[in-house]
Amino acid sequence: MAESHAKPLDAVTRFCAVLGHPIKHSASPAMQNAGIARLGLNWRYLAFDVPPAELREAIAGARALRFIGLNLTVPHKLLAVDLVDALDESARTWGAVNTIRFEARVAGGDWQPLATFPPDAVPTDVRTHGFNTDADAIVRSLREDLSLDPRGRTVLLLGAGGAGRVAALRLAQEGVSRLFLVNRTVSKAEEIAAEISRRFPGVAALSGYPPAGASVDLVLNATSLGLRVDDPPPWDGAAFDLGRAAAAYDMIYRPAVTPFLAAAAAAGCRTSNGFGMLLYQGARALEIWTGQTAPVEVMREALRHHIYG
Ligand code: ATR
Repeated sequence: MAESHAKPLDAVTRFCAVLGHPIKHSASPAMQNAGIARLGLNWRYLAFDVPPAELREAIAGARALRFIGLNLTVPHKLLAVDLVDALDESARTWGAVNTIRFEARVAGGDWQPLATFPPDAVPTDVRTHGFNTDADAIVRSLREDLSLDPRGRTVLLLGAGGAGRVAALRLAQEGVSRLFLVNRTVSKAEEIAAEISRRFPGVAALSGYPPAGASVDLVLNATSLGLRVDDPPPWDGAAFDLGRAAAAYDMIYRPAVTPFLAAAAAAGCRTSNGFGMLLYQGARALEIWTGQTAPVEVMREALRHHIYG
């Protein structure tokens, strides 16, 4: 594949950025700048460490500087739902915003992405439009990286934080038949199970491990356990033997093989880490900003190189 080179920075270079707290380990600039270069855009993608108390101001600043778009990561995704001017269906459905597109009003009153304006245009009346690209990225990664179609499947989901909640709801929408939700703070798993019963009544969502001897199609780790070498395992081996799962997915992608994935592979599971989720949420965000198909393979290589060297 031919090398893509970034356009030189000049007075009409436009910007995108990821805002998080902390942010220094983000792989998004490497992935997005590779995609931007391949599309031949005179844009750059930056990263900023923004504490939650300053998120509103940071978004307003990016708007004033006529940024094209933003990504939001931990801990901003829920907060941003109340900070944007308009919510796309994806953000409304999943209750979290990880992508903002800046849009300006055109004659006739419609809102158009800033990317569609000439580079030297300074449109007035700019709004923020919030999207969620995380939820679809989970399902895409399960399909592409594990060859797993969630419809009709039984899933054990470990973790009921922000990422676990979106995964649970998206899998329910996809039509899993049974979902077992396990979390250290049991009440959070119970709340998600109740929300699924309300919104997706065809899905049996239960808090706790599957009954003894029952098998599952997928066990998915959405906890943060495995990021650090001294973390305890994310699942209770006495309550659930990984040999009862056909496939295992870990949302963690660094290290590439977490102790959970190593144990799952040893137990005979098909395995995947969360690299694909990171890639596909980013690829979709770039499409939302540009209106063009994302160069996924270029972004994949840049991401792989940045994360794994
Ligand atoms: P994210 O947005 O990445 O999901 P989060 O909302 O903070 O982050 O969720 C972290 C998840 O990892 C939660 O499921 C959390 O369990 P609690 O809801 O009980 O906090 C889980 N987690 C983090 N540290 C843990 C630990 N030491 N033991 C068990 N679970 C842990």
